[in-house]
Amino acid sequence: MNSFTYYNPTRLVFGKGQLSQLAEEMKPYGKKVLVVYGGGSIKRSGLYDNVMTELEKMGATVHELAGVEPNPRLTTVKKGVEICKTEGIEFILAVGGGSVIDCTKAIAAGAKYDGDVWDLVTRHAMPEAAIPFGTVLTLAATGSEMNSGSVITNWETSEKYGWGSPLVFPKFSILDPVNTFTVPKDHTIYGMVDMMSHVLETYLNHTGNSDLQDRFAESILLTVMEAAPKLVNDLENYDLRETILYNGTMALNGTISMGVVGDWATHNIEHAVSAVYDIPHAGGLAILFPNLMRHVVDENPARLAQLAVRVFGVDSEGKTDREVALEGIDKLSAFWTSLGAPNQLAHYDIDDSKLDLIADRAMKRGEFGNFKTLNKEDVLTILRMSL
Ligand code: NZQ
Ligand code: ZN
Repeated sequence: MNSFTYYNPTRLVFGKGQLSQLAEEMKPYGKKVLVVYGGGSIKRSGLYDNVMTELEKMGATVHELAGVEPNPRLTTVKKGVEICKTEGIEFILAVGGGSVIDCTKAIAAGAKYDGDVWDLVTRHAMPEAAIPFGTVLTLAATGSEMNSGSVITNWETSEKYGWGSPLVFPKFSILDPVNTFTVPKDHTIYGMVDMMSHVLETYLNHTGNSDLQDRFAESILLTVMEAAPKLVNDLENYDLRETILYNGTMALNGTISMGVVGDWATHNIEHAVSAVYDIPHAGGLAILFPNLMRHVVDENPARLAQLAVRVFGVDSEGKTDREVALEGIDKLSAFWTSLGAPNQLAHYDIDDSKLDLIADRAMKRGEFGNFKTLNKEDVLTILRMSL
């Protein structure tokens, strides 16, 4: 494995009723608070009222930024930056899914930056400070609640990029499985595809001597695969929501990637697709990931065969690694479609008319992918396989 330094300062507050810890968690920070949330799910579920009650009790002065979009937009980030600057906000509380948290991270850093916050997202400038923030998570998917990454869309230019900084780890994240009961079936499925994809991105590495990392990764995949079919038919099952919530965080909080360098090419291509078509992130992943794996299988058939045998139960008897690996990839795709995830871009009415634009967007930062370095032709091939 590679040399590594592991650092994750986010306090994880997990379990039923843990919103009661909010005042204690916020104690070290100022009382001028910006609450950031999405399109209204937290008002319908009652979580908004519960959060406001806690903030009132602690005597906070509350400002609000509502309406963060799925695939959060630069325009919304800028609104938040403006509020922070004019109101002297001291702490930001994100209440929502990955989009709300990612938007909050950009606001937190953007409010301490003199230039255009897009410079930070495009990595033309590095943040030097950020307003401290915490999260109350409502959707198990991205891991944003315990990592330092953020993905922002500039809808005007059809660009969607990930960026990150150690300055934007949440100070704390409160994860109550009950707050995920109201996530509709489709987003529940997308969330599980997303966390599995984060594990698969990490698994696609050539580092070597990663036995424990591999077993951690396989455990997450197996645990999600056991719970997922039950959860889609029993959305308010506490134990299943709890299992999935914990898996989502562990899939992308750095634990399984210590000492290995994952691929992340599928995420890059998906971000380009959703920059152009605004589709749900993991809907895109469910379509693209199996095709990317088929495209890169020859880079390391033994590794993908290991995944096929250990996670997808493929019988390797009398078969080559390549055959075993491809059978595993078919099983992965079949599993996702059995849950209700899409497996073709046509599901989102995406045809071949803008493939070139998507590929250009994906190539914006040059060739990418650590399992196989992809060029534009590779990207177009994977996109065509996904139509
Ligand atoms: O906006 P509201 O009304 O809250 O509705 C949301 C939204 O429509 C709804 N929802 C969330 N919690 C709910 C709920 N509905 C009912 N009950 C609840 N408890 O779900 C919809 C999707 O929410 P969103 O936050 O967009 O989903 P997700 O958490 O999957 O986040 C997706 C975004 O995260 C980025 C993606 O690219 C995408 O922009 N990612 C961020 C990563 C990171 N920061 O580490 C990594 C990921 O790979 C990903 O790229
Ligand atoms: Zn993802």
